[in-house]
Amino acid sequence: MRTAAVAYSGGLDTSCILAWLQEDWYGFDRVLAVLVDVGQEFDLEESITRANAAGADDVLLVDRKDAFADEQCARAIVTNALYEGKYPLVSALSRPVIAQAVAEIALEHGAEAVVHGCTGKGNDQLRFELAFKAHYPGVQVIAPLRDRIWTRDEEIAYALEKGIPVTQTAASPYSIDENLFGRAIEAGVLEDPWAGPPEEPYALTSDPASAPDPIEVVVGFERGIPVALDGEEVPLAALITQMNHLAGAYGIGRIDMIENRAVGIKSREVYEAPGAIALIAAHSALEDVVLTKDEARLKRPLEQRWTELVYEGRWFSPAREAIDAFVDSTQQLVTGEVRLELRPNAAVVTGRRSPHLLYSTELASYGTGETFPHEAAEGFIRISSLETELHAARARAKIEA
Ligand code: ARG
Repeated sequence: MRTAAVAYSGGLDTSCILAWLQEDWYGFDRVLAVLVDVGQEFDLEESITRANAAGADDVLLVDRKDAFADEQCARAIVTNALYEGKYPLVSALSRPVIAQAVAEIALEHGAEAVVHGCTGKGNDQLRFELAFKAHYPGVQVIAPLRDRIWTRDEEIAYALEKGIPVTQTAASPYSIDENLFGRAIEAGVLEDPWAGPPEEPYALTSDPASAPDPIEVVVGFERGIPVALDGEEVPLAALITQMNHLAGAYGIGRIDMIENRAVGIKSREVYEAPGAIALIAAHSALEDVVLTKDEARLKRPLEQRWTELVYEGRWFSPAREAIDAFVDSTQQLVTGEVRLELRPNAAVVTGRRSPHLLYSTELASYGTGETFPHEAAEGFIRISSLETELHAARARAKIEA
């Protein structure tokens, strides 16, 4: 008996995959559809109906929403993770979680193969497969959409022939991936980098032009993790959802970028991640007043390395864990509050406070009562400028010679 466990999303691609796996060309006897909740919008009933229609022997729902918030989203926030300075890793964060759940179920049910619905052109195949192998070494990985290229119309025709219900979303020109941390939108008119993104595929954000009046929101942090909104403690998953609503109304977190994929392709990506963008801005502002200069300087290049590792599918890696250990050490005193003003297109930091400030008004002030040791500044600058003077004297001597 040959069993396959599929990373099933409920969409057209992975529904067809459930059926293909039972066709002669794959020939599996038992197909398990694994649906992992990472905070995406999905219709459970509909997904189960579709999987059953596609001949799945079982549909397993795995709830990883809170785990995803507390582990992947929390780490992305403390690391201020923005790939190529812009993209908060939305899809890159969820793939290892989904793949781990699928691999665990495959092991538990004696499945010999794990299956994903990624094509050969993207990053997601890398993320799925590295994570599959990290939890089920030696497993056979099947990527039906890499084995054969199916057009959307061919898939729809196949689904109808098999009696798999096709909804109107199947006809959408966009490829959309979403989770608690945001949404990624590709394809359709977006493939033309000159074409402005239309309003229609956005779901978490509104047009900033029709935003309400600006508001203020205070985000509370404990050891780098957002824990409260306007003084009220909220679990992270709920806090991100609330921030998505609040900031989304102002069109905050809409990102239109050309991105370098791991496979060497530049792609046009549109994202909306209002909560992620607002929370990273707030977190980073709190670090500004708490971290020492050297902590901050060491952290920046490590943040970038971490982001690239995760983007390229290395969530489960000793390198990522080693950077986490450094980051955790820097976050011990990143506790306090940040005031954000939400206005069209921007989450602007307008205030920060913490019991652990290194910022000292007495030292920094231009007013009276400051304590800065002015007399020491003179000696400091004399020593600091020694080399500059030597160098300048040497340059002058050369010109004169
Ligand atoms: N390019 C993004 C990434 O690599 C988004 C991928 C999302 N997938 C999708 N099917 N739209 O993280």
